[in-house]
This record gives sequence, C-alpha cells and structure tokens, in this order.
Amino acid sequence: MKPNDNSHYSHKLALREKYAEKVEAELCFDLFCGTGTFVQAVWAPSFSQVVCVDKSRKQLEQLPGLPNVTAYQGDNAKLLPGLLVKYGAPDIVDLDAYGWPDPLVHDLLTTSVTNKRFAVVATDGGMKVRQRGSPNALPECYGFGKNLTFAQYGAAMDAAAVRAHTMLRAWATIGGKAVVDFDAYVCGSMMYWAALFEPQDVT
Ligand SMILES: C[S@@+](CC[C@H](N)C(=O)[O-])C[C@H]1O[C@@H](n2cnc3c(N)ncnc32)[C@H](O)[C@@H]1O
Repeated sequence: MKPNDNSHYSHKLALREKYAEKVEAELCFDLFCGTGTFVQAVWAPSFSQVVCVDKSRKQLEQLPGLPNVTAYQGDNAKLLPGLLVKYGAPDIVDLDAYGWPDPLVHDLLTTSVTNKRFAVVATDGGMKVRQRGSPNALPECYGFGKNLTFAQYGAAMDAAAVRAHTMLRAWATIGGKAVVDFDAYVCGSMMYWAALFEPQDVT
C-alpha cells in the first residue's frame, strides 16, 4: 500500500509534541488519522484516550491496535457531533487534512462547549489543492457564501498565517473562547499550524 502523505514530517511532529505539552493529557481526537503515524508517535503514548477517524477502511486497517485507541470509519464532519456527545470535549484535536481543515475548525470552535483549555493542530493544504485545479472557492465557513472564489494569484502564502490566526480569533470569539497561543510553519503552498484556546468567562 502507498504510504500516507506525511511530507514535512519533522514540522508536523514538532507542532504536535509542543502542543501536547500545553493541555491535559486526557482525550485526543485524531480526525484524519490515516495509518496512525501521529497516533503512534505522540497521541497514544501521551493521552489516556485517543479517538481516531478516517474515511478510508484501508488506512484504518493499518492503525496500531492499542488499548487506549478507538477508531471510527467515516466522514469526520458527520461523526464529530456524535463524538463530542459520546466522549466530551477533547483536549487536543489533530486535523492532518489534505485540503482545508477550516470547516472542522469552525465547527469545533463555534459549537463545542468546554470549560477547559484545548488545542488544535492542523495541516492546511487548501491552497495546494487549489493550485492543482480543484474548485477555487473560498471555504463556505469563511462566511462569504457559496460562490466567492479566490482571484488568480489573489491570496499569497505570505498572508496564510495571518489569515488562519484572524479566522481562529473570530471563530473562537463566537464560541466563547480565546486564542492564547499560535504557531505556523508555511512551506511552499502548505501550512502547518497549531493553536491553543481557553474558554472566556462570559459572566
Ligand atoms: C494527510 S492524510 C493523514 C495522514 C495521517 N496523519 C497518517 O499518519 O497516516 C489525510 C487522511 O484523511 C483521510 N480523510 C480525508 N477526508 C476525510 C474525511 N472527510 N473524513 C475522514 N477522513 C478523511 C484520508 O483517507 C487520509 O487518510
């Protein structure tokens, strides 16, 4: 089987190790778990419980069978609400996506109710997918409707980290949270970021 794409592995690993240290080591959601590279390297050794999702049965067959790892096959966006009900709010969420992680980040930040700090570690390949000729539309969760597209060459990668940080702050505010830490590596048309959120006292 073709191994899963883990380009820029050292950056991805460093972000995960750094943000794993910033939260309680209880519950991790790895929502694009693939064959479990980061489950083995970081999540299962550090967290009491790891909940994995991948849409590919073939990928999941290679996931290590570990007592603290539970795997689900399916579309992560559809499974997420049920996982939040079943397991509660996670301490860390791994979104190692091929394209935009933004719709899931939006849902997590605006709808997940939690009274604890939590982190998200994401791979943002949205601009790369766009360069490969996939639909050029902005993710709908940006709030501009279905049909707004990027102008050609209109969104440069040197603005990518600012774009992500700005959206995170806006979505966190909607969900009663604040961004208290943020790191991003931009490598060509890929971006790898991690953020730490804290609930805000609304009283
Ligand atoms: C970049 S790979 C993740 C690699 C993973 N970190 C590993 O160690 O193997 C992206 C994975 O997301 C899965 N995927 C893509 N869209 C998905 C979706 N909507 N729901 C669940 N999994 C999805 C793919 O099957 C693929 O395994």
